[in-house]
Amino acid sequence: MSLRGREVVLGVGGGIAAYKSCDVLRRLQDRGYSVTVVPTPSSLNFVGKATWEALSGRPANTQVWENVHTVPHIALADSADYFLIAPATADLIARLAAGRADDLLTNLVLASDVPKMLVPAMHPSMWLDPATVSNVQTLRTRGFIVMDPDVGRLTGNDLGPGRFPETSSILEKFDALTGNIQDFKGKRILVTAGGTREAIDPVRFIGNKSSGKQGIAIALAARDRGAIVHLIAANFDTSKLDGIEISKVESTADMQKVLSQQFPLCDVLIMSAAVADARPKSLSMDKIKKALFGSIDLEENPDLLASLAASKKGQLIFGFAAETKDHLQEARRKLEAKGLDLIYVNDVSGGAIFGQDQTMGTILLRNDADIAVKEVSKDALGNLLLDQAIRQLG
Ligand code: CTP
Repeated sequence: MSLRGREVVLGVGGGIAAYKSCDVLRRLQDRGYSVTVVPTPSSLNFVGKATWEALSGRPANTQVWENVHTVPHIALADSADYFLIAPATADLIARLAAGRADDLLTNLVLASDVPKMLVPAMHPSMWLDPATVSNVQTLRTRGFIVMDPDVGRLTGNDLGPGRFPETSSILEKFDALTGNIQDFKGKRILVTAGGTREAIDPVRFIGNKSSGKQGIAIALAARDRGAIVHLIAANFDTSKLDGIEISKVESTADMQKVLSQQFPLCDVLIMSAAVADARPKSLSMDKIKKALFGSIDLEENPDLLASLAASKKGQLIFGFAAETKDHLQEARRKLEAKGLDLIYVNDVSGGAIFGQDQTMGTILLRNDADIAVKEVSKDALGNLLLDQAIRQLG
């Protein structure tokens, strides 16, 4: 399951550990979560609004009285998929247990029934006080996930349970709650996407209909599963792809050059780009007048996949095919001819699939197995291909 678009409310209570939540916010973003920070008013004594707004790129409101016309407590409660409240102070825990709604965060918690995780941090005597113990128990019985704080040195010289846990253990627990899997941690995934263009003259080119959506979905899914992702992007907007290394290319020759540098470094290449099959034999430096456009002499582009497959050293290579007839036979022929480990084929007769958010087709594997893919989102297909990759990588 991809986490793109998974909306998290990061609630921040008024404890000194609020500054550690800046790192929690960053790490959540690295994993593909979209985060809105909702600080309690007292937490602003420790970390100011400007920090949260700059780090999250979103408004960080504390009260229901800000932007009232948007009914923020209901709008935000409706859009949230998860709550992570870190740090949760003794006072905040008490207010939540009592069902109070005296700031934006507590309003949101009451107005939303999605999973909620709390990370308490406070002085040991406050954590062990019977009132806090009972409040935590109440919240746990109501389904809140309440982490146990770490045991260790507190802000003063006191020792005991109450320390804010390490970011990594908070995220491990949060990922378990959201079902986020990090099975590609440390793996390098190279993805090509979009369609290459071959210039005819300074204003015209030979191109194709590929939108890049499928490759983007694969790259984001791989990032969300912990991979180091390099995306070779042919002719589409890459401005909103955080956490991914990007090489922008235009022509097939540009793509071949980046592939030759990046392929030796990767564990898996997923070649979703539509490569222009041919290019003009010569590029006109001047715009060709339409009266002179009788014909264009073309030459075939090199087959990028076939040449990489010949030089591979243990990498997996997945290809794509878009066919208008005999799509399974054609795809199996390409799987073998290009030395691929998997090919995904879709039937594009009638222009289906291009530019859409949904796809349907068949995954073909080397062992003659076919996996039919019923209509799914391109995000979901990205994850299905990654599932195959992790199985084959062992
Ligand atoms: N591909 C490639 N180099 C090319 C053409 C295609 O690496 N010059 C890759 C595509 O990125 C895709 C796979 O090969 O992953 C199949 O692409 P397709 O265009 O269907 O293959 P072609 O060999 O060009 O076959 P056709 O004759 O049907 O155009």
